[in-house]
Order: sequence, then structure tokens, then C-alpha cells
Amino acid sequence: MLTTVYALLYYVAFAVFAGGIAWRVYEYAKTPQPANIVTTPAPVTRAGVVWRMFKEVLFFESLWKSNKWIWIFAQLFHASLWLILVRHARYFIDPVPALVVLAQPFGKYAGLTFVLGALGLLARRMFVARVRYISAPSDYLMLLLFLGIGISGLSMTFVNPVDIVGVKAFFLGLMTFNWQPLPGSPALLIHLGLVALWMLIFPFSKLVHAPGVFFSPTRNMVDNPREKFRPVPWMPAVSEVSFDPPHGTRK
Ligand code: HEM
Repeated sequence: MLTTVYALLYYVAFAVFAGGIAWRVYEYAKTPQPANIVTTPAPVTRAGVVWRMFKEVLFFESLWKSNKWIWIFAQLFHASLWLILVRHARYFIDPVPALVVLAQPFGKYAGLTFVLGALGLLARRMFVARVRYISAPSDYLMLLLFLGIGISGLSMTFVNPVDIVGVKAFFLGLMTFNWQPLPGSPALLIHLGLVALWMLIFPFSKLVHAPGVFFSPTRNMVDNPREKFRPVPWMPAVSEVSFDPPHGTRK
């Protein structure tokens, strides 16, 4: 019964997660960017924009320049999340790649820094008055969701070990449509329930900033408004415009 419920839950969650992200990315990609609104100073070449984006995505460069405290907690949170996800790849890939084996001890302790980062970001929302003022309930709930995932995960790693061989068999079984029983530990059921919830809300929440940052026009545009002419649909055709004084008026 439990296996069936979680198997169906994960099929639905994965479909919503992958389909939802694809839909959001499609929407972003086809949204027109008629004006150059890049935040300056900005690179003047495409290669420069790639470099800027790389620094932004990996090192949160603009956050570093604006607020060191938030930067520390945001980096703790996101870098730990990457390590955790790499460590978790062992549940989905067989045989386990060398990189994933290498990441195991780091990923284990990243669970602790992940929770610390989330607590720091939560404290900021609760105790910094101007941040509290602009915080919606979903901002808190998102952080609580991550704390729930992290704490239930840590409880399995450090307090009540679970049958991780069984967990792997269950997920490989899901992928090959050859269902295997899910171990029934309460911490695991909570962990997996919260992760499924996370996947279900990801495309419809602020969490979609992860793929969204690549589509931010203030970051992904080249600073070339003078060099590159950007016609917009509501502009008169150049042939219709008189360049004699007064400038830019129709004949
Ligand atoms: C379907 C996806 C997932 C599965 C099957 C899964 C399963 C597990 C299992 C079995 C453990 C215990 C590991 C052990 O005892 O060695 C664990 C730990 C943990 N999980 Fe997950 N988890 C999933 C997704 C996630 C996600 C998305 C996050 C973070 C947002 C997360 C965060 C953690 C943390 C922080 C730990 C403790 C540190 C560690 O042992 O890695 N898990 N997870």
C-alpha cells in the first residue's frame, strides 16, 4: 500500500517538476526583450556576459557586493544543496560513478551546513525588520520545507539509520517500472513526502529562480544599446521618420 502511494506520488511529482520547469523555461525564452535594460556596468560582448553569469550563478557576485551576511548564509545553503544532491545520486545511478563516491563524506556533512544556512536565512526574515516587511507566508514556508527535508535527512544519517539499499531498489524500480518495496521508516516517509512536495511546488514558486536567473534581462544582455539597433513593433519604420529638426518626428 505504502509502496503504491509513494510510487504514484513520485511519478506525479516528477512529471509536474520536469514538465513545469520545461513550461516555465519555454515561457521565459519566448518573452520578448524589446529594450536593452541590462544593469550597468555590464560586459560589452557575449563572452563577457557568459563570464558574468558564471560568477553570478556560482558565486552570487551581486549579492557579495550588496550584503556579506546574506551572502554567507546563501552560499552555505546553496553550495551544501549541490553537495547533498551529488551525494544523493547514489540512490538513482547504478553503478555509482567515482565522483559521487568521492562526494559521500562531504555530502554527509553538507547536510549540517545546509540546515545552518536555512536557519540563517530564516532568522534574517524574522529579525531584520525591512526584510520581515516584504516577506510573504510562502517565503517562510519555503524555508521551513527545506528545514524539514534537511532535519529528517540528518535524523536518518546520524540517529536512525534506514535501509538505504532498499531505498535505492525502490527508486531504480520506479525508473524501470519494476516496483520494489519502499522501506517503511517514519523519517524516510517524512523525508520523501516533503521532497515530493518540494518537486510539486518548484515550478510555481520562487524556487524557479534557479532556471529563471539565466533569463533575467538585466543580467543576460550585452551592454550595446548604441551599437545594436533594436527595432520594436510600435516604432515607426525608419523610412517614415524625418531626421531633420525636430528630431524623430513623422513627416
Ligand atoms: C527522491 C529524492 C530523495 C531521496 C530518495 C532521499 C533519501 C535520503 C536518504 C535515504 C537519506 C539518509 C542517508 C544515509 O543514511 O546515509 C537522506 C539524507 C539526507 N537528505 Fe535526502 N533524499 C532525497 C532528496 C533530498 C533533497 C531534495 C534534499 C535537499 C533539499 C535532501 C536532503 C537530505 C539531507 C540534508 C540528508 C542528510 C545528509 C545526508 O546523509 O546526505 N534529500 N536522504
